[in-house]
Amino acid sequence: MAVFSRTTQQIMNYYSTITGLGFYVPENLVTNHDLEKHMETSDAWIRERSGIEQRYFFTEGKDTVSKMGARAAEVALERAGLAPQDIDFIIFATLSPDYNFPGSGVLLQRELPFREIGALDVRTQCTGFIYGLSIADQFIKSGMYKNILVVGAEIQSNVFEMSTRGRDFAVLFGDGAGAAVVQRTEDPTYRILSTHLHSEGKYAEDLILEHPGSNLKNRMSVELIEQGKHLPYMKGNAVFKHAVSRFPEVIHEALQANNLQVSDLDMLVPHQANLRISKAVQDVLSLPDDKVYNNIQRYGNTTAATIPIALSELWEANRLKRGDLVCLAAFGSGFTWASALLRWA
Ligand code: UT7
Repeated sequence: MAVFSRTTQQIMNYYSTITGLGFYVPENLVTNHDLEKHMETSDAWIRERSGIEQRYFFTEGKDTVSKMGARAAEVALERAGLAPQDIDFIIFATLSPDYNFPGSGVLLQRELPFREIGALDVRTQCTGFIYGLSIADQFIKSGMYKNILVVGAEIQSNVFEMSTRGRDFAVLFGDGAGAAVVQRTEDPTYRILSTHLHSEGKYAEDLILEHPGSNLKNRMSVELIEQGKHLPYMKGNAVFKHAVSRFPEVIHEALQANNLQVSDLDMLVPHQANLRISKAVQDVLSLPDDKVYNNIQRYGNTTAATIPIALSELWEANRLKRGDLVCLAAFGSGFTWASALLRWA
C-alpha cells in the first residue's frame, strides 16, 4: 500500500523536490523550410514572429503520447535512482491524449512495470505540467504519497492541417514529452517552495479545439469537418497580449509569497509559446539572458511538455545547482496561467 499514516506534527515536516528529469522527442525533424513546401509561410516569418527554427513530429505506429511519456519517464526514473515500482502515483498532463477516454495516465501505467497505482490526467494545456507539479506537491505534503511521476506529453502535429489554413498552428506547435520524479523530502530549504494556479474561463474560446465535443447530438459530422470545426482555433494576438501580462504577474506572485525579489532568481523557465513572449517577460523583469531558458528554437511549442523538456536540458547541462532559485511559469488555453518556485536540491 502506498498510503503513509502520520500525525499532524509530521505533516508540518514533509516537502517535495524534483529528483529526476527526462525527455523524449520523436526522430522526425521538421524545419521551417519543410513547412514552406506545404503552406504560404517562410522561414524568415516563423523565426521573426516566434523564434522557432525546427520542431519534431511523431511517427505513426511508433510514437503515442503515452509511449513518449514512458520514454521520458524511464530517463527521469533512472536519474532519480528509482524503479517504476517505487512510484506511488502518476500525473499525466496533456491536451492530446491517446484516447478521449481512458486517460493517458493509465496507458502510461501499463507501459512500464508500475504497481496498480492511481493515474490522473491533467487537462490544463500549457500549464498542465505546473498544475501537475502542484498536485504532486500537495499529495506529498499531506503524507499520502512519497514518490510521484509528473509527465507532460503531446502529439499535436496531426491536429492541424499542413496547409495555409492550418498555418497558425503548423508553424508554432511540435510533439514531445518530458517527465519529472517528485519525491518527499524533510528538508525545509531545498524543495518546491510554492505553486500558484489561475484560470479565466471567459476566454475559453480564444484558444480551443471544440469538436468532437459532448455539446452536440452528433459529435462529429461531415458539415463540421467541412467547416474546419475539427481543427484548433487560436486568437493569436489576444493570447499573446494576455500572456505578456500574466507571466510577470504570476512570477511576482510566487516571489512575493516567499518574500523574495526578482533579483533573487537564478533561473526562469517560461513555458515555450513564443520567443517574443519570453523576451517580453524577460524585459519586464529586467532579467539577464543567462537567467531565462529558452529552447523553442529547437522544439516549437510542445504545450504541456515544454517545461519538463527545458528543465531536463538545464539539468543535463549542469545549469541547475543546489540552492538555485528556479521559477517555472506558464500561460495558455483556458485561459490558465501558473507558476512554481523551487529551491533546487
Ligand atoms: O502556448 C500558448 C498558446 N499560444 C501562444 O501563446 C501564441 C500566442 N500568439 C503568438 O505567438 C502570435 O500571435 C502568432 C505567432 C500566432 C502570430 O504572430 P503575430 O505577430 O501576432 O502575427 P499576426 O497574426 O498579427 O499576423 C501578421 C501577418 C499577417 O499578415 P498581414 O495582415 O500583416 O498582411 C498574417 O496574415 O503575418 C501573416 N501570417 C503569416 N505569414 C506567414 C500569419 N501567420 C503566418 C504564417 N506565415 N504562419
